[in-house]
Amino acid sequence: MYELRNVTKRYARGKDTVHALDGVDLTIGDGDRLVIQGPTGGGKSTLLQMLGALDRPTSGEVVLDGIDLAKLNEARLTRVRSENIGFVFQSFNLIPTLTAQENVETALVPLGIKTKERRELAAEALHSVGLGERLAHLPGEMSGGQQQRVAIARALVKKPKVLLADEPTGNLDEGMRDEIMDVLERLWKEHGLTFIMVTHDSSIAKKAPRLATIRKGKITVKENAGA
Ligand SMILES: Nc1ncnc2c1ncn2[C@@H]1O[C@H](COP(=O)(O)OP(=O)(O)OP(=O)(O)O)[C@@H](O)[C@H]1O
Ligand SMILES: [Mg+2]
Repeated sequence: MYELRNVTKRYARGKDTVHALDGVDLTIGDGDRLVIQGPTGGGKSTLLQMLGALDRPTSGEVVLDGIDLAKLNEARLTRVRSENIGFVFQSFNLIPTLTAQENVETALVPLGIKTKERRELAAEALHSVGLGERLAHLPGEMSGGQQQRVAIARALVKKPKVLLADEPTGNLDEGMRDEIMDVLERLWKEHGLTFIMVTHDSSIAKKAPRLATIRKGKITVKENAGA
């Protein structure tokens, strides 16, 4: 699925250069689940942006199914992203003036899917995260856990190959956190997704079969046979 070779990402900050990623090598197989942890500013979100075709590395290769994302132009990156990759963020990122159903439908617009089918697929995705009764609710009328479920439905409605989650439980209390983790785990299995998740939560990290730690732009990966 993914093959990263010597990936670096540098940002200019004033006169200084920040080495957000510094020689990252990483292989992620089809259907794998990888958890990423590490101190703040270590480069976790930057790595997800590379994996998610949101941005290109300064140097190195980010190969997804044989295509080096580092070499694609903006238009082709957008296409790879909208067809293959679902994102879930800490802050849900829903559009406040759209209903749950309309928020989920937005993921299908770039794929040229017709209105009627968009509606059906969005309703189905919301049912699969347990929100079949809330199609017409606005984000402001839902709890944090429910809003994150809408965001998960939006990420998965297009049936992507990859699900990337950046601290998806960071804004939730413990009860909701477990609920969202259960939903993500179930959908990972059901959809045969490759699932990559950043978390600060050590209880989630402890259970991860494969755990990457990123510090100062450098990555180490540990297999956890017991998990
Ligand atoms: N667009 C940007 N411009 C300049 N510097 C950036 C930019 N994005 C990230 N950085 C810097 O790159 C480094 C890595 O940032 P990144 O957001 O990847 O860290 P993180 O591990 O996700 O941290 P957190 O746990 O706080 O979310 C940081 O020093 C950050 O300040
Ligand atoms: Mg981050």
